[in-house]
Amino acid sequence: MNTVATQPATQALFERSIDVLACPYCGGGLRYDGERIHCLGCDKSFNVDSGIPQLFAPHDPAQQKGDVTEIVKAFYEENPFPNYDDIDSEATLMEKATRGVFARLLGEQIPQGALVLEVGCGTGQLTNFLGMHYNRRVFGSDMCLHSLRLANGFRERCRIKNAGFTQMNLFRPAFKPGVFDLVVSNGVLHHTADPRGAFESIARLVKPNGVIIIGLYNKIGRLTTDFKRFLFRVSADKLSFLDAHMRNKNYNQDRKRAWFYDQYKHPHESKHTYSEVIEWFESNGFEYLFSIPKIEAGAFSNDEQLFVKHDKGTRFTRFLTELEMLLQGGVDGALYIMIGRKQGGSRSA
Ligand SMILES: C[S@@+](CC[C@H](N)C(=O)[O-])C[C@H]1O[C@@H](n2cnc3c(N)ncnc32)[C@H](O)[C@@H]1O
Repeated sequence: MNTVATQPATQALFERSIDVLACPYCGGGLRYDGERIHCLGCDKSFNVDSGIPQLFAPHDPAQQKGDVTEIVKAFYEENPFPNYDDIDSEATLMEKATRGVFARLLGEQIPQGALVLEVGCGTGQLTNFLGMHYNRRVFGSDMCLHSLRLANGFRERCRIKNAGFTQMNLFRPAFKPGVFDLVVSNGVLHHTADPRGAFESIARLVKPNGVIIIGLYNKIGRLTTDFKRFLFRVSADKLSFLDAHMRNKNYNQDRKRAWFYDQYKHPHESKHTYSEVIEWFESNGFEYLFSIPKIEAGAFSNDEQLFVKHDKGTRFTRFLTELEMLLQGGVDGALYIMIGRKQGGSRSA
């Protein structure tokens, strides 16, 4: 189990944890000389931009056919997501995160000393929230530098010592395989050309007995968003008030714009079923633990156990859960969360 309490807290997280970083080109170990990061295995060296290691490697040219990485990267450089509200501070971030049940439960249930990676952290709200814990290390990674600068700016203003941000392409990870107790990727894989390949790439970073959490657009639940997208297109966006987020008085204009573009103007998205993800889990050595919305009958309670194995249901009960998402109006873009544990080794989360 990793511990952070004894590490010098003034050092940036990537310096304290250089042993888990890896060259995105050759997988070799890295060394930091106080200015740049150097690969110990090949001749590559990497810039560190205002405390953010730039470890982004473009897609492998041999697999570039149909790739959308550069298109999606350009989209988020212009529209960082989800962005911050003017009043955001350590206290408001904490307050908002604990109001959202998933982040609160996650914050409470991650074991002491865990090493956590968020893949596609955007503007870093979850990473910063989780990094406020004294005995944990949380890396946020994303390919969009604009988002990472907002994330790291917030982290610095609020002096969040156990969070740190790294630029990275999830298809070419800048971390060693099998080092994380928890890998979280919420709302990201469906913006790649190969979501299953993306899952496999980040699943390799999880330790045996560690946990993976992924959030994806649901194939059935998101039909509501498809319909709204059509309405907005034909009305030249005049009907955008039909989306509840666009009426939210607590959002500033930047956040509203970030939401609207992410949901309705995105250059690339795909949608997935619960059963599909369970198949990804099982063919990559993960057992299903839990999902939000739940597959089992019964209301979601305030003390759900995210890391305890629950019944994965049948294709039919999973379909009913998806139908319910649709009937409830595809809330929050019909994003659903699936949690799985990597098999083998001794339990850490
Ligand atoms: C919808 S945002 C989600 C942000 C955050 N996870 C959240 O829930 O608010 C998707 C993020 O995935 C990132 N992303 C997409 N493809 C990626 C890739 N190949 N490598 C790294 N990040 C990627 C984008 O830059 C963007 O910030």
